Order: sequence, then C-alpha cells, then structure tokens
Amino acid sequence: MKKIVILISGRGSNMQSILEARLPLEVAAVISNDAAAGGIATAKKHGIVTRVVDHRAHADRAAFDAALGAEIDAFKPDLIVLAGFMRILTTGFVNRYRGRLINIHPSLLPAFTGLHTHRRALEAGVKLHGCSVHFVTPELDHGPIVIQAAVPVLADDSEDTLSARVLAQEHRIYPQAVRWFCEDRLSITPHGTVTLKAVRGADGVLLSPAIDS
Ligand code: GAR
Repeated sequence: MKKIVILISGRGSNMQSILEARLPLEVAAVISNDAAAGGIATAKKHGIVTRVVDHRAHADRAAFDAALGAEIDAFKPDLIVLAGFMRILTTGFVNRYRGRLINIHPSLLPAFTGLHTHRRALEAGVKLHGCSVHFVTPELDHGPIVIQAAVPVLADDSEDTLSARVLAQEHRIYPQAVRWFCEDRLSITPHGTVTLKAVRGADGVLLSPAIDS
C-alpha cells in the first residue's frame, strides 16, 4: 500500500476530505508550517501523526525547505500532497520530489495562478470557474494537470459564495486524484501532460450558461 504525507498551512478541509475518503493508502503524517493551523487538530482526531516545521524558525526558504524535506523523508512517502500549503517552495525542493508532489489550486489552471483566485474570476467575468489538481513543477501553479472541476459563476455570486462552490468540488477531485496516483493510473507524457488509465466520462461537455433548446 502506498504511503502519503499531507502538507497544510490552515484549516485543512482538503486534507480532511482525503482522510475521510477511505482511500487504499496509508497517511503517514500531516505536516504544517504553522503550529496554529486548524487542520492539525483534525488530523489528530483521525489518529494521524502530525509535525510542525515552522518557516519562521528558518533563516531563508532554502533552510526551511531542507528542514521540511528531512521531516518528509523520515516517513518515506510515495506521494506528497499539498493541501492548502501556502509556502512557495524552492526549485531544489520541487525537483527532489518531481513526479510525486501534487497540489490543489482554486482555479481552472492555467487561468488565475497565485492568490485571490475567486475575486479575480469575478472581476474577469468568466462564466466557468473551478479548481485543478496538478503535479508541482518549479513554476508556481503550472505543472501537469491531473483533474479539474468547473462550476458556474452566478450573477449574484460574492467571493464567499463562489469559493464555497469551488471548495465543494475541491473535496471531490482531490481524493480522486490521490486515489489514481496510488493505483498507479497516472502517467506524465514527454510533453508534460497527464494521461490516465481507464476513465469513464472523460468526454463530458459543460456549458454555462446553458443554451436554450
Ligand atoms: C483551498 O481552497 C486550496 O485550493 C487553496 O487554499 C485553500 C485551502 O483550504 N490553495 C491554494 O490557494 C494554493 N495555491 P483548506 O485548508 O481548507 O484545504
């Protein structure tokens, strides 16, 4: 059975969705860069080992990433899952775990990389917004995409209502992506795109607003 380590910085709802999905894997540890992260208590409730590597206790990104890497390696994970982990990682760190480091981002990448994605989607007037799970590469929010979910942007949406609609989909697609990885169903092509063995419904079409018939 594959082993994963989950990295969090805050409330940890994506982590929780993975813990509660009853996936065929072992969650070896949850590691946070912040001792105040709400997700630590949730992980403990699930009986998961937790660790804190505080970024403020390290002189620079390289020192923090070295300490974080040492903590991760102690658990010998097959996959490292970034679940609302809000630190920018060094190229050295990302390359060390290339192909076994994944992230969830609250937009339909490559649109809206970075922060405040829901506000920016509203400002841009897009009709579909969503979330993406991707492999992590050195360029922020740019790695090969594993799965995306789209939601409609409604006329009366606020940042809060839109982010809640997207978050509900994050909680569906992240456990799914982790499951696929752990079942050895994901592979990255030489062009840097992800292919997936045996997926049903991969040709689904989504329109928003719907077209009157
Ligand atoms: C999630 O919406 C996740 O997509 C986002 O932070 C939130 C964490 O929530 N991640 C990023 O913006 C990474 N660039 P959670 O702690 O409840 O999972």
